[in-house]
Amino acid sequence: MPAFEIVNVENIKKVFRNFRKVGVVTTFRYIVSDLLFDMRYKIDTINTAQLDTLKIDSQNKSVGNYYEGTNAYIFQKMISHAQVDPSKSCFVDFGSGKGKAMFMAAERGFRKIIGVEFSIELVEVNRKNLEIFKSRSKSKAEFEILHMDASEYAIPADANLLFFSNPFNEELTTKVIGNILKSCDQSPREIWVVHLHPQGNMAFAKSPRFKVVYEAREGFVFQLEPAD
Ligand SMILES: C[S@@+](CC[C@H](N)C(=O)[O-])C[C@H]1O[C@@H](n2cnc3c(N)ncnc32)[C@H](O)[C@@H]1O
Repeated sequence: MPAFEIVNVENIKKVFRNFRKVGVVTTFRYIVSDLLFDMRYKIDTINTAQLDTLKIDSQNKSVGNYYEGTNAYIFQKMISHAQVDPSKSCFVDFGSGKGKAMFMAAERGFRKIIGVEFSIELVEVNRKNLEIFKSRSKSKAEFEILHMDASEYAIPADANLLFFSNPFNEELTTKVIGNILKSCDQSPREIWVVHLHPQGNMAFAKSPRFKVVYEAREGFVFQLEPAD
């Protein structure tokens, strides 16, 4: 991607937000890892997108958060605390945007990778990115990109790593938790949840079935055991 497409107001704001939150050294680490990721595959995940600039046909648009690709350094740090065998696991990204977390899951060797996103424009970028990613990576993962509201998604019986990078507010997350519990009770299995940048959204922590297994500045990793 040409430099002029990266140096824009939203990305500059992101850099200043990170300066305040994590300091100069970590911000620099984030920038380098984000740039290297897009350069490695020649895809576009780095530019953010505000929801009010996108066509979204959902009553939940107002409680959704804008698109920002998950940083590779944060993804690797957090996901390593979910004790799953990627080669036997199904990863679902709730609010998958341009697909960055899906591609990072593929790099980790997940067998099946599903992205659920309610913006058609972001889904289209994701589909384009996916074709390029497949041609440039050695991933053998099975991919699925769904254009829908994540709170309406019936979680499949084999999904065991559920990823949330601050897609929406606590109320909608609580609705999704209902879908997770339903899926787990219908097809009992261990489920891991990675919730990044919760920004006060404590829906998983408040739900008694989810146990915190790792907590860091960047978010939480939870484990859900099947009911007895
Ligand atoms: C912070 S971005 C995360 C992007 C992606 N998960 C990643 O890590 O690269 C949040 C995404 O959630 C999407 N989103 C917000 N509310 C949603 C909803 N109710 N259903 C589906 N997608 C939603 C936004 O459009 C945005 O792309």
